[in-house]
Amino acid sequence: MNPIYEKLKKCEKCVREKTDFVPKVAIVLGSGLGNYADNIKIECEIEYSEIEGFPVSTVPGHAGKFIFGYVDETPVVCMKGRVHYYEGYDLSDVVLPIRLMGLLGAQILFLTNASGGINKSFKAGDFMMLTDHIAALFPNPLIGANIDELGTRFPDMSNVYNKELQEIIRTSAKELSIDLKEGVYAQLTGPSFESPADVKMLGILGADAVGMSTVCEAIVANHMGLKICGISCICNLAAGISPTPLTHEEVQQAGKDAAPNFEKLVTLAVKRMVNI
Ligand code: HPA
Repeated sequence: MNPIYEKLKKCEKCVREKTDFVPKVAIVLGSGLGNYADNIKIECEIEYSEIEGFPVSTVPGHAGKFIFGYVDETPVVCMKGRVHYYEGYDLSDVVLPIRLMGLLGAQILFLTNASGGINKSFKAGDFMMLTDHIAALFPNPLIGANIDELGTRFPDMSNVYNKELQEIIRTSAKELSIDLKEGVYAQLTGPSFESPADVKMLGILGADAVGMSTVCEAIVANHMGLKICGISCICNLAAGISPTPLTHEEVQQAGKDAAPNFEKLVTLAVKRMVNI
């Protein structure tokens, strides 16, 4: 068996020894957005460290566990904390949690993250719904032998961010009077933030926001046939657009400030995903 798939199946077995909960929506919580779990009627929690072989984050603000439960009537699994490629993990480990949530039954992946705003009309604290992404500046997580059990060798990427889910998020934001931007997210490896020249290049290439996660997760989820949506919290204006130097603390604080609206938006959207 493919060793990456074998590891994944072991993790699945480990989770299944603790819970038989079948989620519909898998939610990944980005920087500073970790308290979303307060909105979940919790059925079961599993620390990442309890799952043999599972990657555990080293970044403050990313301590990790799976939370299984309900957002209104929708069964969800929520990742409180994710690992990043810049921490030194193999890319196959970075995306393992996403694949695991797919194996546990999730049909929808709701990605969230913190990013730097490139689009000049954005301001810190805005939300941007992902309509597409730029994957070309980051290693592809599907490199290596294809895991045929999960998906095809050459997956189509024409519609990664599901149109129906986008419409649910759009109408939810409107009803909540939340100003929702839309755009293209580019993933770079980090951990250093971009230079002003990087940001200028990304803008020319068509990126509206830049961050250090999400795209590789969307690629493996798309590979295994999940429906995907995503919202980015524009925590700062990217380098060269922002007048001040960037700090991780600023990113976390902006995430915290945005949390109440973020929680409302995700809750309403996830509630409406119950029948998809
Ligand atoms: N660049 C990359 N990643 C980020 C940023 C940024 O400006 N802000 C939050 N995550």
